[in-house]
Amino acid sequence: MTIQERDGSVAATARRAGDRVVRGPVGTQSNRGDAPVSTESVTAAAVERILGVRGSRVLVTGAASGIGLAIAEAMVECGARVVAADRDREGLEIVAKRFAELPGEVRVVTTDVTEPEQVQAAVAEAVDNWGGLDAAFANAGISLAPGLRENGGQLAGTDPDRWRRVLAVNLEGVFSTIQAASVPMKAQQSGRIVATASTAGLRADPLVGYSYAASKAAVINIVRQAALELAPHGIRVNAIAPGPFHTNIGSAVGAEGWKPIDDSVWARTVPLGRMGDTSELKGVALLLASRASSFITGAVIPVDGGTLIAYPG
Ligand code: NAI
Repeated sequence: MTIQERDGSVAATARRAGDRVVRGPVGTQSNRGDAPVSTESVTAAAVERILGVRGSRVLVTGAASGIGLAIAEAMVECGARVVAADRDREGLEIVAKRFAELPGEVRVVTTDVTEPEQVQAAVAEAVDNWGGLDAAFANAGISLAPGLRENGGQLAGTDPDRWRRVLAVNLEGVFSTIQAASVPMKAQQSGRIVATASTAGLRADPLVGYSYAASKAAVINIVRQAALELAPHGIRVNAIAPGPFHTNIGSAVGAEGWKPIDDSVWARTVPLGRMGDTSELKGVALLLASRASSFITGAVIPVDGGTLIAYPG
């Protein structure tokens, strides 16, 4: 990876330290989009200093599938020590095998995030084994209710049991995770907490149900509230707001009573014309778990192919 810099200060520091310089592509005035505007570059070692999570102690909930799996993988690939927590024991075992050859370390803990003591036990797994917790991803979530245009997705058809279940996992589960993670982080006076919200928490979305939209909007405000409380303790709290991603939830696989969403929907509603791949969340996860985001807190970062700037469809 190369980072282009206008003032070259990191590159200069890196050169003084005798690091190997990695050259990026040469930019010109006529470049558009992602093209660089400078020929300055930084070293792999400098990138590690800025974005690195090597040795970090990280908790990821919902790590057995989809977005949580990609986040946990990004961390372990970059040398972090990860507690992968999920209620799906079998899924966790597959994760442990999949990560076995990667540079970091993984410990799996069967955890239902609706049970606060189980979340505390997952945090304790990191603290007891590694002496603390540097980053926590409150990611586990479900979407049981059909969208507005499906039967049962409208006001009159909203099922109270499903409403409660979605709020228990998506809202209370995230709250418990932030609460539990903040304990060792306050003791350390440092930490990074990241919740997985959704673009559905930022605007109306006909493809999700009321409970899901409500839970994600609430998660965003809990993140802001916790960011305010925890800032004096050196703990940053942020949210990622994904648009549509290929996962069990995103592809509506196995969701009771759901029709799979046709790909033409994404061509119409996502400016980049497609669903995201979970690997496309790895960069933002590293940003928020590393010192690269040292001045970012209380933020909600959309990763949505432009969904929020488009007509909801
Ligand atoms: P997924 O279904 O592939 O993964 C969710 C994981 O959470 C599963 O491994 C599941 O076992 C786990 N989980 C569910 N309930 C749990 C509980 N009570 N305790 C512990 N683990 C539990 O779905 P995906 O998409 O990876 O979901 C992850 C997060 O991303 C969720 O919060 C979801 O709302 C959010 N999200 C997903 C989007 C998408 O299009 N896939 C879009 C926006 C947000």
